[in-house]
Amino acid sequence: SSMHTELEKLLDTSTGAEREVSMKDFEGFKTLYHRFLQVKGPSVEWIKIQRPPEDSIQPYDKISARGLPENVADCLNKLVVVKLNGGLGTSMGCKGPKSLISVRNENTFLDLTVQQIEHLNKTYNTDVPLVLMNSFNTDEDTKKILQKYTHHRVKIHTFNQSRYPRINKESLLPVSTKLSMNGQSAEGWYPPGHGDIYTSFYNSGVLDQLIAQGKEYIFVSNIDNLGATVDLHILHHLVSQPNGKRCEFIMEVTDKTRADVKGGTLIQYDGKLRLLEIAQVPKAHVDEFKSVSKFKIFNTNNLWISLAAIKRLQEQKAMDLEIIVNPKTLDGGQNVIQLETAVGAAIKCFDNAMGINVPRSRFLPVKTTSDLLLVMSNLYSLDAGSLTMSPKREFPTTPHVKLGSSFTKVQEYLTRFESIPDMLELDHLTVSGDVTLGKNVSLKENSITPQSPYIQTNHRRLFHRRHWIINSFSVE
Ligand code: UTP
Repeated sequence: SSMHTELEKLLDTSTGAEREVSMKDFEGFKTLYHRFLQVKGPSVEWIKIQRPPEDSIQPYDKISARGLPENVADCLNKLVVVKLNGGLGTSMGCKGPKSLISVRNENTFLDLTVQQIEHLNKTYNTDVPLVLMNSFNTDEDTKKILQKYTHHRVKIHTFNQSRYPRINKESLLPVSTKLSMNGQSAEGWYPPGHGDIYTSFYNSGVLDQLIAQGKEYIFVSNIDNLGATVDLHILHHLVSQPNGKRCEFIMEVTDKTRADVKGGTLIQYDGKLRLLEIAQVPKAHVDEFKSVSKFKIFNTNNLWISLAAIKRLQEQKAMDLEIIVNPKTLDGGQNVIQLETAVGAAIKCFDNAMGINVPRSRFLPVKTTSDLLLVMSNLYSLDAGSLTMSPKREFPTTPHVKLGSSFTKVQEYLTRFESIPDMLELDHLTVSGDVTLGKNVSLKENSITPQSPYIQTNHRRLFHRRHWIINSFSVE
C-alpha cells in the first residue's frame, strides 16, 4: 500500500496524454509488483521437472517434409511479423535503438527486416504487415526512420511497451519522484522485458485492429536475430492444424552447443510445456541445467502465436509469467531492481503449444562486434534482406571469433578493418590489443595472402592451422 501511495504521487506529477498512458502502465506494474511480493521460493521445484513428451518438440525436417501448399498467399495473409524493438545498442557502444545499427552493406537490422517482408509481399502478392514493439527508449528515433519506408510494400505499425518504475533494492519503493523523464529521473524507469508484449500489444489496440483485418498469427522475434525470417513451412504447419487441436503457440528451439549453455530450455511441468530460464534454476542445479546432453535444446525466441489466444488470455488476465528480478546499480550508486518477464515464458498458458527444432541458421543473433564481423564477411551472402551461409564454406559451422576490448564499440571496430577479411576458411580468430587489419586480408590455413601488406610486415602473429591469434599490432 505504500507503493500505491507512491504511484499516486508519481501520477500527480503529470497531466494529459502522459497521465493516460501512465495509468495503464501502473495497472500492469501493480499486478507485477504484487505478484513479486507474494512469490515465496523458487518458481520451479526441481524434482517436478520432466523431459518434454516425444511429440511436443518436432524436428524441422518433419515439418518441412510435407511441402508447401498451393495457397501460400492465403497462409501469409493471416500472418503479422512482430519485431521486439525495445532495446538499445548500448552493449555495442551505440546510442539509440539497436535496430538502427548498420549490419551489412549499410543496411540496418530494420532495413533488412523491411526488405525481407517486402520481398515476401511482392513474391506472393500478399499483405504481411510489420509491427514494431518499441519502448520509451526507442520509439522516437524509430518513428523518425520509419518515414523512409513509406514507399515500400510493407505496412508498418508500432506500439509502445510499458514503462515501469525501477525500485530501490532495500525499500522496494520507486526511485523516481517525477513521471516526466527529463533530467535526473530518466534512470528511474525501464522497459519490463519482452514478456510485456502481451499486455502492451493488447492495450495499444493494435492487436484488435489486426484481428479485425483477418490476421490470425504473429511471428515474433528479436530484431537482432538475422536468422529470424518468415518460414513458410512453419507457418503452413501452424495454419493447417485441425480444429479442436489448434496450436496456439510454437517456440522455435535449436540444438544447444557449448556457446549457448545459458539459453532457456523447454521442460514438461505440471502437464504443460514450460520455458526454464537459468535465472529460475536453483544454484545446486545450474551445472545440470547447462549440460548439453541433459537439456539438449534452447529457445531461439522465434515464436509463432495466435492473436485470438493472446486476446483471450489478456481478457481472462490469465498470464502469470515468471518474474525475472534484474538488479542494477544506477549512475549515482543506488542499488535498484527491475521486474521483468520473458515472452517465451507464456508458452505454458497456450493450448497445444509445441516446439520445433529448427536448423541453427534460424538463430543468428548479433550481440557483439564479433558477431557483427561474421555477418559482414564473405561467410554470408545477402539476398532480399536475408543472410545465408556461403556455399563456399566447407564446414557448416561458423568460426569462433573473439575480438578484444578495442573492438567493443562499433565505431572503433569499423576503423580497425580497412576491409572485412576473407573468413571462408577460418576456424578461430582471437584478437587482442591495438590491432588494425589492412585491406584484402585473408585469414586461412597457414597462409597469408600477398595483398595483405599490414599482416605481412608489422604484426606478431601466432597461427596454427586455422586458428589465428593476432595481438598488439597496429598500422602507421
Ligand atoms: P536482449 O538483447 O535484451 O536479450 O533482447 P537477449 O540477450 O537476447 O536475451 P533474452 O532474449 O532477453 O533472454 C532481445 C530482444 O528483445 C527486445 C530487444 O530489443 C531485442 O530485440 N526487448 C528486450 C524489448 O523489446 N523489450 C525489452 O524490454 C527487452
